[in-house]
Parts: sequence; structure tokens; C-alpha cells
Amino acid sequence: MTEQSSRIIVGETEADLELRSGTIGPDVVDVTSLYKKTGLFTYDPGFSSTASCESKITYIDGDEGVLLHRGYPIDQLAERGDFLETCYLLLYGELPTAREKEDFVYRVTRHTMIHEQMSRFYTGFRRDAHPMAVMVGSVGALSAFYHDSTDIADPHQRMVASLRMIAKMPTIAAMAYKYHIGQPFVYPRNDLAYAENFLHMCFAVPCEPYRINPVLARAMDRIFILHADHEQNASTSTVRLAGSSGANPFACVAAGIACLWGPAHGGANEAALNMLTEIGTADRIPEFIARAKDKNDPFRLMGFGHRVYKNYDPRAKIMQQTCHEVLDELGIKDDPLLEVAMELERIALTDEYFIEKKLYPNVDFYSGITLKALGFPTAMFTVLFAVARTVGWIAQWKEMIEDPNQRIGRPRQLYTGAPLRDYVPVDGR
Ligand code: SDX
Repeated sequence: MTEQSSRIIVGETEADLELRSGTIGPDVVDVTSLYKKTGLFTYDPGFSSTASCESKITYIDGDEGVLLHRGYPIDQLAERGDFLETCYLLLYGELPTAREKEDFVYRVTRHTMIHEQMSRFYTGFRRDAHPMAVMVGSVGALSAFYHDSTDIADPHQRMVASLRMIAKMPTIAAMAYKYHIGQPFVYPRNDLAYAENFLHMCFAVPCEPYRINPVLARAMDRIFILHADHEQNASTSTVRLAGSSGANPFACVAAGIACLWGPAHGGANEAALNMLTEIGTADRIPEFIARAKDKNDPFRLMGFGHRVYKNYDPRAKIMQQTCHEVLDELGIKDDPLLEVAMELERIALTDEYFIEKKLYPNVDFYSGITLKALGFPTAMFTVLFAVARTVGWIAQWKEMIEDPNQRIGRPRQLYTGAPLRDYVPVDGR
């Protein structure tokens, strides 16, 4: 990493600030000392021009539509690797050897059960509660059951908490789904691979054997890979900020789940499918395109646009291919939602408004159709995103905790409220 200095001049104020370069991507002006040197804050409420940290985990080139995890392109990981291998890469920085992979899979597999008392936790929720509400509550409660891995100063406890989160999220998510539909919980099985185990816990019933479809299990595993990590997105930034105070990883991930739930973020996969369903047929697409362009209409095309990608989201391309594989395997021909989605994409990508604003389909655009075909209700879509993103949240949290320069995150503000004034008794108002 190279360092140079840059002089900043604001009105009568001048200061020398460090200019730092990373491996690839934009240089940064280090403004750590700006306030001390100039009495000025920077102002960037959406953090569009702000690097909140230094990281080695994920790199995104939004203009080129590139996504790398520890330097490896997402398409290569999705097509040639598997999710637990990607988890190892995100956590430890290198692809595992065969021995390392076998050991990691063994350890994750044997952390998939949750404390039996947690199953009673679910009965406190209404059956019709949104599964994401159950996830926020259940994951937050993990710190009440696994207090022996909450000391973040202990590297061993950090490692155990990391494995527990990755291993237990599918179990917790499957239990949220089973509770939602009124079916009995299905225990994890150590003879099944990660994605197979998740599908089994979601769709098996006590009355008959459940047959794992290898094509669908492979698609599920690839969907997990596509959602594993994505640099400093809103939910990851939430986890980092929560973790910067020293909060335990279970509480931090619960905060990340809460943030992911929003329709502008992870909730977009559920919102995108609801939008495609509302559009219904291709002939209604122009009406919705017009609404998306109307400044007075809050409607947006869900699954389109991205803060960083001003090109096609590389994950969306792989998701579209996976969507076709799943529909073909299930013999679903001419899925009306897929037809609407593909026609909507075709129109949007040729429309001046979307071209000018560089709005392309993102990872959420095709995921909903795929997940619906796999048998999941719309309300479970963001839960699946949370299952996959847990490894990204944990890897980023681990990187932050192990950063010797780490301090509690505490942004400042531009204050535009009332100036100093004296209290007025109520009979004088
Ligand atoms: C995820 O950050 C990540 O990495 C997130 C994520 C991850 O893996 O963690 O990639 C996952 O969250 C993907 C994004 C899922 N969200 C959606 O699909 C919801 C629909 N998209 C929009 O809400 C929006 O595009 C955002 C939230 C994704 C990005 O918003 P920005 O960067 O704040 O952009 P903006 O709102 O400033 O929009 C820029 C312009 C605006 O027009 P002007 O005010 O400049 O005239 O583009 C317009 C917006 O009105 N615009 C859209 C649009 N998205 C942006 N217009 C219509 N439809 C859209 N979807």
C-alpha cells in the first residue's frame, strides 16, 4: 500500500492529508485528522464517497460489474466451488486444501444443532409472524444460550462463535419456516451437505422420506455463494458498527438481520417477486416503467439499481442462469413470472431513463423466481439471504475485531437545529 500526501484547501483553511492507495480500486484521502487540523467535518449521509474501513475480504468494481472474494471472481467461485469452501475463503483469506476443507466441513456440520430449549422460543411468536421477525428474535437470543463464545477478546471463542453462526443459521431459518407453516421441526443431519441439509430441514416431513434433488441442492448452494458477502453494504456496516462497541457476535448478526430486512436492501427479493406478481402480464410493464420514472410516485422497480453497480450485477447473471436450471429441472415451462421478468429487463435496459441512471438488474431480480420454484414462500426469501450473508457479516466482524487500529464507530453530524435558548415555563409559552 502506497502513501502520499494531499493538500486540502477549503476557503481560508488548508491542511495536508494522507493519500492512500489499496491493491486495486479508488485511492482514499485519510480524513482521520481533518477535524483536528481544520475544525471541519466531512458530510456524506449515504456514505457514497466514504470508505468506512480497510478490508481484504471483498472487492467490487461497480463500473465494470466485477465482484471478487479474496481476489477470486464470483462466477468462478459459484461455478467451480461450494458454499462452505467460500465460507472458509472469506473467513481465513485462502481457499482450503482438501484436508483443511474436510476439517472445516466436519466442524461446521457438528455445530448445526441448536440448544433444545431454543425450540420453545419459537412458540412465543404468532404463527403468522413474518419469518424475518422470528430470525431477528431467535438470533439475538443465541447470546443467551451460547454465552461461552461471547468473549470477543478470546480468539478461540471468536472462532467457536463464527462456526456456530454459520452452522446454526440454516437450522434456525428452517425452524422459522416450519413454525410459520405449522409443521414439526426437522433436526439437522450430519450425513447431508450444507445446502442438502437446509432443504431437508425445510421440506422433509415425518410421514415420508424426503428425496434430495441434487440439481436443486446445487442451485441452493450456489444461491448461498452469490449472497455470501458484498463489501460494506448496509447490513455489513451495521454489524461492524455494532461490533465496534464490543457487542457479542450473535447480537451483531441480529442487528445485521434487522437491517437486511429493509426493501431497499435484502428485502428487495421479496419485494421484487411481489412486484412481478402485481405486474402479472407483460402488457402491464409500460405502466410500471412509467411509475418508476414518475418523481411523484415512490414506486421503484424492485430488483433494479444499486449503489455501487452501475453495470450489470455479476451475481444477477449467475442467478438468471440458475433460475433457468431450476425451472428446467422442475419441468416448469413458460413461468409467467419469468416471462414478465425477462420482458421487464429487456424494456428497462433499452429505456433512456434506466440507461441514463445506469439502473441494471441486481442480485434480487431473479432470485425470487428461483426461490419460489424451489418451494419457498415469498416471506422466506430474505431469510435465505440472511442465512447466506451470515458468513460475510462474521468475516467482516472478525476482520474488524482483529484490526489493531479498531475503535468504536462514532460519526458526527451537520447540526441545523435550534441555537442555544433558555427554557420557558409553560404559562409563558
Ligand atoms: C441489495 O449495497 C449492497 O451491496 C446491497 C446488496 C448486497 O449484496 O448487500 O447488493 C443487496 O441490497 C441490492 C439492492 C436491492 N434493492 C432494490 O432492488 C430496491 C430497488 N433499488 C433502489 O431502491 C435503489 O436502486 C438502491 C437502494 C438499490 C440504490 O439506491 P441509491 O444508490 O441511493 O440510488 P438513488 O436512490 O440515489 O437512485 C439514483 C437515481 C434516483 O433518481 P434521481 O433522484 O437521481 O432522479 O436512480 C433512481 C432514483 O430515483 N432509481 C430508481 C431505482 N433505483 C434508483 N428508479 C426506479 N427504480 C429503481 N429501482
